[in-house]
Amino acid sequence: MRLDRLLANSGIGTRSSVRQIIASGGVTVNGVTAKDPGMQVRETDTVALNGSEIGRKDNLYFLLDKPDGVLTAMEDPRLPCVGDYIPDELRGKKLAPVGRLDYHTTGLLIITNDGELSHRLQSPKYHVAKRYLVNFSGQCWSEKEISSVASGVTLTDMDTPVKTAPAELSPVDDSTAEITLYEGKTHEVRRIFAHFGKEVIALRRVSLAGLEIADSAQNTGTIRELTDEEIKLLKEAVSL
Ligand code: URA
Repeated sequence: MRLDRLLANSGIGTRSSVRQIIASGGVTVNGVTAKDPGMQVRETDTVALNGSEIGRKDNLYFLLDKPDGVLTAMEDPRLPCVGDYIPDELRGKKLAPVGRLDYHTTGLLIITNDGELSHRLQSPKYHVAKRYLVNFSGQCWSEKEISSVASGVTLTDMDTPVKTAPAELSPVDDSTAEITLYEGKTHEVRRIFAHFGKEVIALRRVSLAGLEIADSAQNTGTIRELTDEEIKLLKEAVSL
């Protein structure tokens, strides 16, 4: 994590005031005066302000571009899971995925230990936009079907019928479409497509709460920390 973010997260001050403190030589990392607010600080580093070690408030935020064939779980005895992408030294930090992507769904997955943010991003109350790119087989989407998705569809494929929240569907070509959901029912995209006689061949989440990743799979399997701006974007989307 960046030094200035770590200090700001720890309640020392705002990002700009923290930078001034660093510039004035008040911060050491492992006993050495820090000069660069952007320096990367690891879990094992000792950070001190005016000689006193600071207590870390260690909320962590990662973006994984989930590959196909990976379980959305932090641990699994048999199958590859998203927890395998978390650095070993962060085990025990109570990181958890925000919601679930199916085993065969790829794309944007947030992993964090910020429980309130996670809860709100998953709650239908906050209408968080989740955009998916879908490759499918079957008939092209008709205007009538697109309107039905926009009004909400009653799915009857499970024990109890459920109505989906209004969603936006836009065909890209005859076998590709984008769909934006504002809730997260189990296998919702696959079920909406199946309701209209279409089969999802490949499903990729490309956006969540305004955070975007590439449509293509070029970065699949990579994980990185979110930037401060990205964390702010997510928090603002759920009134935090
Ligand atoms: N909808 C699905 O059907 N699967 C996912 O993984 C996400 C949304």
